[in-house]
Amino acid sequence: MAHRPRRSLLQLLRTWRLQLLALLVALAVLVPLGSRAAPSSPWRVGTDPTFPPFEFRNPQTDSLSGFDIELMQAIGEVAGHPITWVPLPFDGLIPALQARSVDAAISAMTITAERARAIEFSRPYFEAGQAIVVRENGPAFDSLEALKDRRIAVQIGTTGAIEAARVPGARVSSFDSTPLALQELANGNADAVVSDVPAILYAIDQAKLTGLRISGEHLSTEYYGIALPTNAPITAAVNEALTTLITNGRYAELYRHWFAAEPPALPTRAPALEGADSPLAGLDLQLLAGNLLKGAAITLMLTALSFSFGLLGGTALAVLLQAPWRGVHLLCRLYIDFFRGTPMLVQLFLIYFGLPALLQSLEVPFSINRLAAAVTALSLNVAAYLAETLRSGIESIDRGQWEAADALGLSPIARMRFVIAPQALRRVLPPLANEFITLIKDTSLAAVIGFDELFRQGQLMVATTYRAFEIYIAVALVYLLMTTTASLLFKRLEARWRLPA
Ligand code: ARG
Repeated sequence: MAHRPRRSLLQLLRTWRLQLLALLVALAVLVPLGSRAAPSSPWRVGTDPTFPPFEFRNPQTDSLSGFDIELMQAIGEVAGHPITWVPLPFDGLIPALQARSVDAAISAMTITAERARAIEFSRPYFEAGQAIVVRENGPAFDSLEALKDRRIAVQIGTTGAIEAARVPGARVSSFDSTPLALQELANGNADAVVSDVPAILYAIDQAKLTGLRISGEHLSTEYYGIALPTNAPITAAVNEALTTLITNGRYAELYRHWFAAEPPALPTRAPALEGADSPLAGLDLQLLAGNLLKGAAITLMLTALSFSFGLLGGTALAVLLQAPWRGVHLLCRLYIDFFRGTPMLVQLFLIYFGLPALLQSLEVPFSINRLAAAVTALSLNVAAYLAETLRSGIESIDRGQWEAADALGLSPIARMRFVIAPQALRRVLPPLANEFITLIKDTSLAAVIGFDELFRQGQLMVATTYRAFEIYIAVALVYLLMTTTASLLFKRLEARWRLPA
């Protein structure tokens, strides 16, 4: 009898649970359906907020600001949809639209026939063109032809990058944002930047980017459009709202506010799209393999150089940490803590963009080449990690061995060289392999300073072919091939060095 109430409670709980589960499932299915159908569902809009005056983060208010941002907000208001902003890198916008992770993107994106094969555009909302920027005290180039054989910095995936790639003999380095490309020019590592006129004018006039000037203007006429997934359900609504804003004067108001000028008349369809309705071309596998191979070679070179220097530095640190001097000890610890405790990405930016900018502001002419900067940052890092690995290896050798070496009358150097180091090295081989494999992957960070290593080669191909999945899988496989080969080689070495049982 005493069991009965308890059992029914359990049963109650069970049915409760079932009901709750049913409710949750129903909610999960119905809520998204309902919100998609509701008129006030937000639109997720992607943007690369590094392109003032179109889209940027206002440092005072810490919110998104710019002509594009206000225009899209107004479009959302007219259409009755709040905007949820999704910040993305520029070269990630088209893949995000293809994946439908965003409903639209506004990013001063030029309407081109190639892009229109992968996505769809709204009617044009802005007229722009390309310009060439140079250093004030550097040579002038007033046409793209004049840039032959020169170093050009661009933002990856932009029309400026496409124009630069057509210049014969030019060495093009690509950066994640236009400000970084301009910094590269200001630091003296490039001869020119190719980018959009209004953004350049703004950077020079408003953002007070000193030492740069425009030397060739309006090399082309381009129209910006709001980017949408192909056959997007919201295209018509976006176009209608845009047309409303153009006719009711709100668009002109925004234009005057941001550009202090009267807006030009806009076509309803971008001329670039005329006669361009062929589908997306297939992926050129031979080209892909060739480019990835080029990238892999650079990745390997970066790894080999940085690991060698890092091993040297790490050994020096580990040995110094054994020394009885307190000051040296402290310095080593500071070094290790700094390089292990700050992101490599930050160190890379600091060395490549920060140091030259600082020294130049102090009137010290200094610029660092890409390879030197990447190898320095990577080696400094590897050294910090390896110092600890090697130290633990050294300290793991039994005290008795040290004493025995001393008893044999070996000097501290001979003791390290003949007794401690060989044994320690054998023990630290597995963590050494770990560090090497990590380094292979970390070299991909060098892409941010314009290195065309393996990952950046993939990114560059995605930026022109819009085949994100296929290309990044291929990139991943090449990395995998390199890391597994490395791990096999280390295993071999381990077997070779193993003491006979
Ligand atoms: N108009 C150029 C293009 O479509 C550059 C746009 C860059 N926009 C940006 N938010 N970074 O390629």
